[in-house]
This record gives sequence, C-alpha cells and structure tokens, in this order.
Amino acid sequence: MSYAETYARWKADPEGWWMEAARAIDWFDPPSRALFEGRAPLYEWFSDGTLNACWNAVDRHVEAGNGARVAIIHDSPVTGSITRITYAELRDRVARLAGALAARGVTKGDRIAIYMPMVPEALEAMLACARLGAVHSVVFGGFAAPELATRIDDCTPKAVIAASCGIEPGRVVHYKPLLDEALRLARHQPDFCLILQRPQEIAALHPGRDLDWGTAVAEADPVDCVPVPGNHPHYILYTSGTTGQPKGVVRQTGGHLVALHWTMRHIYGVSPGEVFWAASDVGWVVGHSYICYAPLLHGNTTLVFEGKPVGTPDAGTFWRVIADHGVTTLFTAPTALRAIKREDPDATRTADHDLGSLRTLFLAGERADPDTVHWAEKALKVPVIDHWWQTETGWPIAANPIGVQALPVKVGSSSVPMPGYDVQILDEGGHPVAPGVLGAVALRLPLPPGTLSTLWNAEERFCKSYLSHFPGYYETGDAGYVDEDGYVFIMARTDDVINVAGHRLSTGAMEEVVASHPDVAECAVIGVADDLKGQLPLGIVCLNRTCTRDASQIVPEVVALVRDRIGPVAAFRHAVVVERLPKTRSGKILRATMSRIADGTPGKVPATIDDPAILEEIAAAFRGIGYPRA
Ligand code: COA
Ligand code: AMP
Repeated sequence: MSYAETYARWKADPEGWWMEAARAIDWFDPPSRALFEGRAPLYEWFSDGTLNACWNAVDRHVEAGNGARVAIIHDSPVTGSITRITYAELRDRVARLAGALAARGVTKGDRIAIYMPMVPEALEAMLACARLGAVHSVVFGGFAAPELATRIDDCTPKAVIAASCGIEPGRVVHYKPLLDEALRLARHQPDFCLILQRPQEIAALHPGRDLDWGTAVAEADPVDCVPVPGNHPHYILYTSGTTGQPKGVVRQTGGHLVALHWTMRHIYGVSPGEVFWAASDVGWVVGHSYICYAPLLHGNTTLVFEGKPVGTPDAGTFWRVIADHGVTTLFTAPTALRAIKREDPDATRTADHDLGSLRTLFLAGERADPDTVHWAEKALKVPVIDHWWQTETGWPIAANPIGVQALPVKVGSSSVPMPGYDVQILDEGGHPVAPGVLGAVALRLPLPPGTLSTLWNAEERFCKSYLSHFPGYYETGDAGYVDEDGYVFIMARTDDVINVAGHRLSTGAMEEVVASHPDVAECAVIGVADDLKGQLPLGIVCLNRTCTRDASQIVPEVVALVRDRIGPVAAFRHAVVVERLPKTRSGKILRATMSRIADGTPGKVPATIDDPAILEEIAAAFRGIGYPRA
C-alpha cells in the first residue's frame, strides 16, 4: 500500500485504523475502542484495555522463544567496554530489580525519578518501573542539581534511581553528589535512593536512605508484570517551556505502545532482530522512544552508546559501532554529523569500516541543514531521512515512511505527515494558509495515540500552552510551511525555546538565572546561530547603577551561575554587558532583533522600537565578542 493510501485509510477511519494497529500489542484485556473523547479537548486512547509495557517490551519475546536474542548492546568507548544482554537475561534482571523496588513499597502509580548515564541499567530501571506500573521520570545527566530538584519537587517520587557517576570525555560527572545536592534543595524527599555503583567512582551512601543496587537486586525476588489500564501514565518527561518551570509531559501506556510499535516497521523500515541505534540519551524523548521502548517492543536489538561522535576516541567511532554490531538503522541529530564532518570533512574514516549493514540514516532533533544531509549521503551512501517530532508527540509527526513507501527526498523538508497527524499551517488568526506560505504549524485535534495526554500537575498550563491559541488544534510552537506536494518544512520556533546541539532549552529559564545575579538589573538571553551546535545561547546584561565592578568580572560569574543552576548542557558561555536593552514602547524586549544582529542577518526593525540608537550599541557589543561570525 502506498503512503497516500495508508494516510487516506487512517483519515477515513481513524478508529478502525488504530484498533488494527493495537493488535500488535499484547493486552490482558483488549480495549473496546480506540479514542475516548469524553473530556475533549483532552483525549485519551485505549483507556479501557489493560496491558503492561514491560511485558510487551521484554517478557513476550522470551515467551515467544526469542529469549536468546540480544536485546541490548552497550558499547561504551568512554569505559572501553562492550556488553550484550539477551531478552531472557533482561527479563530476569528487570524482574529482580522490580522485586527490589516492590519490596520497598513501590507500587502502581508511584513516581520514580531516574538520573543515570547511558548504561543498560538505565533502561532496566525504566522497564522495572513499567513492570510495576510505577511512573518513571528520567532526568538528563547534563542538568545540574537545581534542575533535578525542580523535577523531584514536581513529580514527588517515592524513590530515586541513580548511578554513582557518568563519564564525559575527560571528566567524571559526579551523579551521586549532584543527587545529594538536589535532595538538599528539594522540598520533597523520596523514601529511598537506589544507587548503581560504577567501578569508575564508588559513591558514599547515606545510611537509611541510599541502597546499593547490586545488593538490593541480589536479595530480591523476581516479580511479574502488573496490568495497568490503557490510560495509565507510563512516564513523565520534563521538557523546556518558556519559563524556568519545566513542563512534565505525561505519556499514557496504551497509545504509547501502539504508536511506537507501528513506527518501527512503517517509518523506520526495520524487522525484528535487526540492530537499531538511536545515538541520543535516555534523558531525552528520543532515548525514551527509540533507545528503550520502540526497539524492544518490536523485538529489535537496541544499541546503548556511551560516547560522543568525536573524541571517543575519534571521528570514526560512529562507523566503528555500525560495523562492529551490524547496525541497520542509525538515528542521530544533525549536530553529531556536523561534529564528525568538522574533524573528517572528506569522511575518510568511513573507509576503515564495513558499513554494509547500514540501510538508512534518520535525523531529528533540529532542522537538518542541506550541507549536512548531502555530506552524510555522500559519506554513507544510504538514504538520509530528516523527520520532525517533539517531546510532546513522542513519535514522528512528519517523516518519510520507508517501511510503507520510500518517497522522494526533498532536502530541507522532514517529508510528509504520518497517519494520525493532520498538519495545518495557520496564520495569526488561526486560518489555514496556502501551500508555500509560512505560518504556525498546528495539529488538528485529537492528537494520535502516544502523544502527551496532559502536563503533570498542570492541566491548565497544558490547555493554555498548547490548545488555547488555536481552538481545535494543538500548537506545536514551530513555524514552517507545507509545499504543493504536501511536504512539511519546519523553519523555526515561535517561542523562546532554542535548540542547542539537538537539546531543547529555554532562554526564559536562563534569563531567570542570569537575573538572579546580584549585580544584574535586567537581562535577555537569545539564541545565536552556531556552525556546530545549530544555536548557542548568548546573554545580554544590564548592570545595576550601583554596581562598581567591571564587566570582565561579572560575565564569568553569570556564565558559572547558569552552569551551576541549569547545567553544562546549556552551553551558556558568552554574555555581553550593555547600558540598555532594546525594547518596544510597551516595554517588550526585542530578542529576535538582537538575534538577527548577532547572526548578521538584519531584517526589519519593529516600528514600535523605543530608541533605535540602542541597536548600534548592541551591535558593537556583539562585535566585541566576534558576532556576527565570519
Ligand atoms: N551528563 C553530564 N554532562 C553532560 C552530559 C551528560 N549526559 N551530556 C553532555 N554533558 C555536558 C558535556 O560534557 C559538556 O560539558 P562541558 O561544557 O564541560 O564541555 C556540555 O554538557 C555540553 O554538551 P554537548 O552539548 O553534548 O556538547 P559537546 O561539546 O560535549 O559535544 C556534540 C558536541 C555535537 C558532539 C554533542 O552535542 C552531540 O553528540 N550531540 C548530539 C545530540 C543528541 O543526540 N541530541 C538528542 C536529540 S536527537
Ligand atoms: P524536543 O522536544 O527536544 O524533541 O525538541 C522538539 C523541537 O526540536 C521541535 O519542536 C523543533 O523545534 C525541533 N525539531 C525537532 N526535529 C526537527 C526537524 N527534523 N526539523 C526541524 N526542527 C526539528
């Protein structure tokens, strides 16, 4: 069946279409129907079925006789180790870990925070929660203690599962001390913490609160999968919004499993047993969907890579991993390829490895720039497919569904809407615009299974952030257009969210931190274009009149403050001190205008600007730190 027929079949009968997709999942009690719209515009899927995510991802493959198949390959150049775990071993490890949690009172609906690097135990922790019907919330390791504390206070976990350390090139990240600091800052305290002691750093444990993972699991009895309703929260994943308070995206179990399973064959074109590698991190949505759940649900081998595209040890690492493990499908962010390209522009290192297993490269997380796409096509000689989605949706909104039909690639576009998504480009008044015209990208409600059902503890914020601006639609926060052939082009964000090395970050959150410096009167943080990371944050700071200290003293302090409060992942390294910020007459800071000045792409200055002369001062300050880049 062609893409057009598949999409048309979904559109003609969404209910029947999703019920059919749901048959790929094992249910204890099958759902009576797909869509539950009793609380529209809040929708749910498969609410009256019962199932278990861990059963579907792990146990059922063992029951089907595939226990000897490798479920997880952990390839860790930073520790010099490669580990393989079969589905049968994974089931036993997860059942015992779940037993260890259950023995300490963890039960269906409890939240568990997970703060771990890229080790197989991170997936085991997620699966053990799912086995019990507990709701995991994984926090990315590059966030600092206050960010972890904010998430702990919001989801009030019964336990925190963490590792003693993570390993970044050239330094050990002290996860356990970061967790201790987060718990010192947090109002909520978990009943216990389960700590995976890695040989690279043995953490000190707090008696009475911290448990050693190895001991707890060795002493535990395995437990079975607990049935949960289709609308039971599977996990909470926090993502950046426009303020410092992150949004806790809630994903419900039934729709999540149905949608993810469908994508593996139809979008990614893989068959069970093949090796699937999403080179991301479990702390991001890509890690949840395509390192952990989707490949395992589908009976694939998932690759957990603990390293970087460059420097671990060199720019040939990705190619070595593909060859060593027979990877058929690689999913990464364009920034990773740009990092490789910068070190090996002619991709000479591909010649050192047999890349014959690789069929397709998928890109997401940020706009795939044509240079990078062409470079990868030439280097790897496989189709390079950009696809677009967000933490909120959990799976691709637009893609080239090679498992259905490989459509012609249009570089610069993330291809066409997937079944379940009715993509519309709207003008400010909420009216659909003509093909080729730029507007706000919106999705007609209801969103498909697997997308967010609400924000944790914040239903009103969910409605306000996503559903209120364009009634009847979900607002993606992206701007773009759809061409005459129905291809979607995502061009920019419409809000204050920036994308740094494929990581989504809030400039608003950074502004809150910068503004908390005692000498700062006022500030703005903007995104500026960067060849490697796509965007980088840049601070523009006005000091208090009473401040007698020099900019050269304040700027490093502000930089350190963002690193300590938000984390190294923010990559906040530059700030300038100016006398005044450019504003409209009503007092709105002209962030977009400043971004354009820093990027050297001046556009129209808003007519409502209060004092145009300030822009020259801003431009001079930017020139002082090398913006615009040559
Ligand atoms: N734990 C602790 N710290 C982390 C971390 C983690 N899991 N991940 C990143 N960091 C730190 C890094 O060590 C770095 O710290 P530094 O300032 O001391 O050097 C900082 O956060 C910024 O990290 P990163 O953005 O990864 O930059 P980098 O310079 O280390 O590497 C790339 C650049 C392009 C190689 C890297 O960003 C990359 O591989 N990106 C792919 C992104 C991706 O997969 N995104 C997921 C969406 S699909
Ligand atoms: P995240 O929630 O971290 O996955 O970030 C989602 C955001 O990243 C989207 O809203 C887009 O702004 C951006 N993004 C992700 N994938 C793409 C893509 N293929 N093309 C353009 N932008 C993308």
